[in-house]
Amino acid sequence: MVVREITAEAASNIALIKYWGATDLASALPVNPSISMTLSRCRSRCSATFHEGESGEDEILLLPERGGQLETAPREFREPIAAHLTRLRTAFERPGRFRIATHNTFPAAAGIASSASGFTALTLAASRALGEPLDAEQLSQWSRRSGSGSAARSAFGGWVEWPRGPGEGEAHAFQLAGEDDWQVSDLVTIVASDAKKVSSREGHRRAPTSPYFPQRQAQLPRRLEVVRRAIAERDFSAMAETVEEESIDLHLIAMSSNPAIFYWRPTTLAVLERVRELRRDGLPVCSTMDAGPNVHVLCLPEVEQQVLPELEAIEGVERVLSDRTGGAPVWREGAEL
Ligand code: PMV
Repeated sequence: MVVREITAEAASNIALIKYWGATDLASALPVNPSISMTLSRCRSRCSATFHEGESGEDEILLLPERGGQLETAPREFREPIAAHLTRLRTAFERPGRFRIATHNTFPAAAGIASSASGFTALTLAASRALGEPLDAEQLSQWSRRSGSGSAARSAFGGWVEWPRGPGEGEAHAFQLAGEDDWQVSDLVTIVASDAKKVSSREGHRRAPTSPYFPQRQAQLPRRLEVVRRAIAERDFSAMAETVEEESIDLHLIAMSSNPAIFYWRPTTLAVLERVRELRRDGLPVCSTMDAGPNVHVLCLPEVEQQVLPELEAIEGVERVLSDRTGGAPVWREGAEL
């Protein structure tokens, strides 16, 4: 019996232009294009062992953030993973049983898109363990089919655009610029590290119920152009206001959806205001957020040491993770977890 063991690592990404609203939720086809920066330290590591031809349930294990022992993942974590493994096994016509073990280096489900890095690492490890090497575009497409759209962007390093493909086949991301072309810092300001109450999937579903959804769509072509140009010209200040406006808009849509979703906590607002003050004082800094209460504070690396203590000093901030532009997913032989 053939047994293949692979370990893959993929980083999370932070969207500058957001995916919020789907034309097909199950396979994550977006209403609009999005643009992101792949991170470096906020990563998921996944070991996949494939027992070809063996029957039985897949084993899905999780190593807690702060280390310790591998444990069986909770049901809500296991189910989408098991469904994705079945999707891959069926598509590549390889019957068999998986053992999956994963670990995140950041608090899961707190608006740091652990599903993006998690599903990209899983897709890379599992496809290799099946004996099916995927190129970056295929990895992007298969990661997206997990239902986590932002995973489409974690298949690439650096600066990434995920267009609104005309059809399922085209819906994969591509790289706008590499991580060595432009480095930007992301000070991930954690104001709450408990799991979020409303999933992004539910947020996508409710988004079109907001009366402001069409207005946001109308703004996007201009915003996309501003961010694409800023990345091409490595001009942080040219995109700072637009990135911030776009993120506030996502939350405006969430707050005005039916039923409404409030991801913000009081400390979230304190961080957003402080970042605006710092920018007014002349620092190259702006904020952006995913579907959670935490704030990604983007700035140029040369001012990171100035910005960091300002964020840590805000009452209610739990901790600040210092991250920056990172590279593409990697894989190697062997099950490390
Ligand atoms: O990838 P999902 O389905 O978890 O959705 C991601 C939604 C946001 O993080 C809020 C925006 C984005 O583009 O990453």
